[in-house]
Amino acid sequence: MAVVLALRVFTGLAAAALAAVLLEHYGLAGSPSPAPLPQPRARRSPQPAPGPDGSNIFWGLQISDIHLSRFHDPGRAVDLEKFCSQTVDIIQPALVLATGDLTDAKTEEHLGSMQQEEEWQTYQDILKKTRVMEKTKWLDIKGNHDTFNVPSLDSVENYYRKYSALRRDGSFHYVHSTPFGNYSFICVDATLNPGPKRPFNFFGILDEKQMNKLILLDKESSRSNHSIWFGHFTTSTILSPPPGIRSIISSATAYFCGHLHTLGGLMPVLHTRHSQGTLELELGDWKNNRRYRIFAFDHDLFSFADLTFDEWPVVLITNPKSLLYNCAKHEPLDRLLHSTHIRVLAFSLFSITSVTVKIDGVYLGQAVHLSGPLFVLKWNPQNYSIRTHNIEVIVQDSAGRNKSVQHIFSVQEDNHLRFHPIASLILLTDHYIMARVFFVMIVLIQLTILIAFRYRDFPNCEGPPGFVIFTSFSLHVLSKMNIFYYSVLLLTIYTVLGPWFVGEITKGKLGCCFSFGIFVDGHFLQGSVTFAVGILQLVFFNVPLMAYLCWSLLQRCFGHNFRSHLRQGKYLKIIPVHLLMLLLFLWQAYSCFFLHLTYGTLAFLLSPLRTWLTLLTPVLIHRAWTVSPTELGTFIGQLKSYLSS
Ligand SMILES: *[C@@H]1O[C@H](CO)[C@@H](O)[C@H](O)[C@H]1NC(C)=O
Ligand SMILES: *[C@@H]1O[C@H](CO)[C@@H](O)[C@H](O)[C@H]1NC(C)=O
Ligand SMILES: *[C@@H]1O[C@H](CO)[C@@H](O)[C@H](O)[C@H]1NC(C)=O
Ligand SMILES: *[C@@H]1O[C@H](CO)[C@@H](O)[C@H](O)[C@H]1NC(C)=O
Repeated sequence: MAVVLALRVFTGLAAAALAAVLLEHYGLAGSPSPAPLPQPRARRSPQPAPGPDGSNIFWGLQISDIHLSRFHDPGRAVDLEKFCSQTVDIIQPALVLATGDLTDAKTEEHLGSMQQEEEWQTYQDILKKTRVMEKTKWLDIKGNHDTFNVPSLDSVENYYRKYSALRRDGSFHYVHSTPFGNYSFICVDATLNPGPKRPFNFFGILDEKQMNKLILLDKESSRSNHSIWFGHFTTSTILSPPPGIRSIISSATAYFCGHLHTLGGLMPVLHTRHSQGTLELELGDWKNNRRYRIFAFDHDLFSFADLTFDEWPVVLITNPKSLLYNCAKHEPLDRLLHSTHIRVLAFSLFSITSVTVKIDGVYLGQAVHLSGPLFVLKWNPQNYSIRTHNIEVIVQDSAGRNKSVQHIFSVQEDNHLRFHPIASLILLTDHYIMARVFFVMIVLIQLTILIAFRYRDFPNCEGPPGFVIFTSFSLHVLSKMNIFYYSVLLLTIYTVLGPWFVGEITKGKLGCCFSFGIFVDGHFLQGSVTFAVGILQLVFFNVPLMAYLCWSLLQRCFGHNFRSHLRQGKYLKIIPVHLLMLLLFLWQAYSCFFLHLTYGTLAFLLSPLRTWLTLLTPVLIHRAWTVSPTELGTFIGQLKSYLSS
């Protein structure tokens, strides 16, 4: 029987996994929209190739998740000011992309959220004081924190409109024009409007209209030498209608984003490549890690490095570029083989005294200063025409500071390296689809068990009953007693269909939260985090509660009541069960408190799945321990027949 059960569970899981894969595939590659995808740029000319010229190169910076806060870590602002003055002065980027979460927008105790004008003023003060907008093109966009509790784009709370450098909502296209080519930078604004308070603001959403706008921007950029798309959310945390955000940005060389903050240090590098060839490069946060990125286009070859603030020298090898980030579809990679010089960008607080180049550990020479931060060293790429090689560059400045960087390169186009599989998993999985599938799967399994046991007869049992028989017996008891059957059934169905709570979803606007999404102010925000919360609710409350009721009823059938079952002396078995249930109940109670902090008193009071459930659970458990033995009569008889067999 156990084997059969295990097999069934396994087939269920397999079917669900298959469904997930199909759904995901559909989400990614569903029927293409009317707009045809642009052809890859057809500029494969091997010239101009990297050589001893100071032209055909520009570079920029990215910074993400700054989280200026009026309550925590004033260092974020102090360092940002230094970044806008010192770092920008030394690097002199053509442009800076600030990809969202400019401010923290949380309440003092960290759990609630609201726009804090003070934080925005700090941000603007820094921009003004450092005059960074005069020194470079500062493209700042909104993140989810910048839209917490913003009822509409026109409301006063949309401080982004008042205090940012750009002050424009929505996606846009910026062209960086140079004598040697045009380079497109396209912003994907997937922030929510209206912007709910946290935590239901973690995923971005793009609707049809916004998708059409992006398709238009993509067309506009098709004549540019390269396009870089940038946004706050990773593509895995954006909900978008078919053909999906990844296929819209497939003509991009790279998509720059932030949002995941190195996952609290678990994934210091989150880079991958989409199946259509676009690189997705998440940048760690400024908030705790003080990360920023330098990127360059050198003779249309794309290179970048993720850096830590205030660590000098900064070094970027632009030719030969790193093999891992080759983009055969968008870059004229044959220029590597035609290049005459190794090219390195080196920056420091003090003058650079040496730029040493080694290939495969063999000293090649000192690169000479060409102009600005550019250093070059003559080489013969033909010497490295087969296989892959390692290039190392050691830069020293006059203060004696050293920096060594290295990467693998190849001058042939048919070599490839793979990205970290976990990084790819995190960036390429549509997490909201996964959450949805798991949620539905758990609900179906629970309902199937409940309904099946209600309408099936007690199983026969030969020999002394074991764990499986007791489990199955207790499920029969639970499902066949109306009060428990309907309570558990209702709870699970309600978790799927019912409103979880009604409250102030965003400032001054009442709304209603369901598992499948949030209704607020005439808008429907599709569910994403809600499914994850739903999974937690099922796994850490609904299902354990059902198990606990089964167990309690089994104890009752053995003839115990609450006191007598405590006195039977099997403390090691009994105490952990009660403790666990108590812990889960406290967690449920805490979630009411959390709801109160995040969505206010009204939500706390009008929350069937939180406060009401917390109040009703003890009643149900009390009932299980006090239901009269006559009601349990037939079950007790059945149990006796098991025990005597
Ligand atoms: C940029 O594109 C133009 C037009 O296709 C081309 O002539 C130019 O060489 C390209 N720039 C670089 C640096 O390759
Ligand atoms: C850049 O774009 C402008 C305006 O569209 C165009 O006139 C110019 O020729 C382009 N430059 C290059 C190098 O393609
Ligand atoms: C590279 O090739 C040149 C001749 O093409 C040769 O003189 C030089 O020694 C070679 N260097 C290495 C490191 O093999
Ligand atoms: C820098 O590198 C040189 C040799 O390249 C070494 O002698 C020196 O100790 C290094 N300095 C630091 C601070 O690492």
